[in-house]
Parts: sequence; C-alpha cells; structure tokens
Amino acid sequence: MGKEEILAILEGSQGCYISGEEISVKLGVSRSAVWKQIRHLRDLGYKITGSPRTGYLFEDAPDLLYPWEIRKGLETLRFGKQIFHFRQVGSTNQVAQDLGRKGYPEGTVVVAEEQTAGRGRWQRAWFSPPELGIWLSLILRPPVAPSQVPQITLVAGVACARALHAELGLKPGIKWPNDLVFNGKKVCGILAELEAAAEQINYLVLGIGINVNQEREDFPPDLRETATSLRILTGSRLRRIPIVRRLLALLEEEYDLFCCSGFAGARERWLAYQVTLGKRVRVHEGKEEFFGEAVDLDLDGSLLLRMPDGTMRRCAAGEVALCREGGQQEGGF
Ligand code: BTN
Repeated sequence: MGKEEILAILEGSQGCYISGEEISVKLGVSRSAVWKQIRHLRDLGYKITGSPRTGYLFEDAPDLLYPWEIRKGLETLRFGKQIFHFRQVGSTNQVAQDLGRKGYPEGTVVVAEEQTAGRGRWQRAWFSPPELGIWLSLILRPPVAPSQVPQITLVAGVACARALHAELGLKPGIKWPNDLVFNGKKVCGILAELEAAAEQINYLVLGIGINVNQEREDFPPDLRETATSLRILTGSRLRRIPIVRRLLALLEEEYDLFCCSGFAGARERWLAYQVTLGKRVRVHEGKEEFFGEAVDLDLDGSLLLRMPDGTMRRCAAGEVALCREGGQQEGGF
C-alpha cells in the first residue's frame, strides 16, 4: 500500500469520516498498517483527524511540492513522470545536472522547497526561501544544435508566461530574453545550463524560479524594488502545486512544438507577451555596455537594436535593462 492509494481513499470520502476497517478492506492490508500510514501522512503535513477508534477524516493537504501531488492530474506525457523533491538543496540545477550526467531521461524534474545556493543568470545568487516559491529544474535532451539553446530558453519563457497567465488570469510581460515581469518587477527567472560535446547537446537543464508567496518584507531590502511575487500581485496566498502542473504541461507543449516545427510559433507567442520592443534599453554584453532601442526579435531569438547612430546591432546573449522616460532603468537585475 502506497501513500497515493490511501490518500485517494481519504480524499475520495468527501468530508466524511471513514473507518480504518473500510480502508483496510479496500486496500487489502491490516488496520495497523493503515494506522501506520496515517501517522506517516500526518508527519508529512497532511491534516487528517480521527483515530483507529473513530475512523479518519481528511481535512487538508500541505502546500508542499510532493511528487505524488504534482503527478495527480498532471496532463503531460513525459515531463514530470519522474520527480525528485527536496526540503532543502543547494541548487536544483546542480542536482539536475548530476542526474543528466547519469543518464536520467528528458522530462525528469527536480524541485525543492528551499535552495541554499540558488543560481541566477550572470553568476548571481537566486533568492529561494523555504516554501514560498517554485524552484524547479527540468532535464531536456533536445535534438538540436547547441546554437539553438537560446531559442529554447525563449520557448521556456513563453511556457512560463502562459502558465502564469492561465493560472492567475493576469498577463505577465516577458523582458528579453525570458524574465517574467509585472509592472517592471521580476516574478520569474530562467537559467539554462548546457552540457554539450562538439556539435551535440548531451543534456540541457532548464532552471525556473517563480516567486509565489513572498510578502514584500520576505525579500531582502536590495530586491524589494526589483522583485515581486504572485501573492503581492494577487493579494492572496496561492497553492503552488496547480502552478507547477500547468507549468509542466505548457513546457511540454511548447517544447514539443519547437522540436517538431521550429521557433516560429513560439516567437509569435513571445511577441504577444514581450515588453522590451519599442523601448530604450541598456545592454550589458560581456564587458561591454551600450544603449539602443530594441526594435525586433530576430528569427533566431536575438534582440535587434537600433543604435544611437542609426545602425542596427544584434544581441544574442546579454542582459537588458529597460530605460524609463527620463533615463531611469527598471527591472534591471
Ligand atoms: C535568473 O537569474 O533570472 C534565473 C534564475 C533561475 C532560478 C532557478 S530556481 C531553480 C533553478 N535552480 C537554480 O539554482 N536556479 C534555477
């Protein structure tokens, strides 16, 4: 008897007590085995009232990213079939890289309640406090050249934007290449880490961080002006599991479309969410910094900029800060 079976019975009894006897008959196990499993579920944070004498009443599931909870009703064929869950980990991207190296299949997911060494782009740290966000990494083995990886990160940005849009009814903006922002404040970031030999990708880890239930004071002071959370935006605490399920479903959908038909479709959807084009931007590319006007997303995912002297410049990888009227910048982290 696994947790999933007993949980299904408890949740299925719809607000009524169910006796240990009935559960034991349904599962073909002893009543003491049922009692042990109930104690285990309580230790995991499930709210189940009652005792072997009175029977049991399922009251609530914890808001933790347990693999069996994510899998319940997950509408994917491959993504999330295997999920590794940690209460605390250095970085889910690091764990996923190790699993990728060991040969774990495409679609394997690593999630953590807390990261102690969460990684952001440009060697930055990613603030990942316990139980307040979604810190998730996905192993991919895309059948494309390493040069197409930037497109995959844009595809992932589109999937994240669609997931938040669908779950919240609020439309995020995508800041090139794939930061999700609301009113200029970042709510989600994506870090792609690649393992490739010669012209072939061995595996790609897509790391996604979504600020879900932080209040403003939960962010360190230096992030308060640039970061936000879904809770701050909606005014309510959200359950993370439905967001993770939707995210995995849309990641699989967008990724499969990309692998079968290329980048054009995702590019159109990226354009529908983007908030970069038409703006004056400051770009950091390597050691260089320059200003320009973002005018288009090229067919390969690069950002096309019009420079002050009127010439065009392509930016394939860089960090962009949007400039407000008057020269201040927003969302630059
Ligand atoms: C960014 O700087 O915008 C990218 C942030 C990516 C954060 C996520 S959280 C899950 C995964 N594990 C990490 O260490 N980083 C990514």
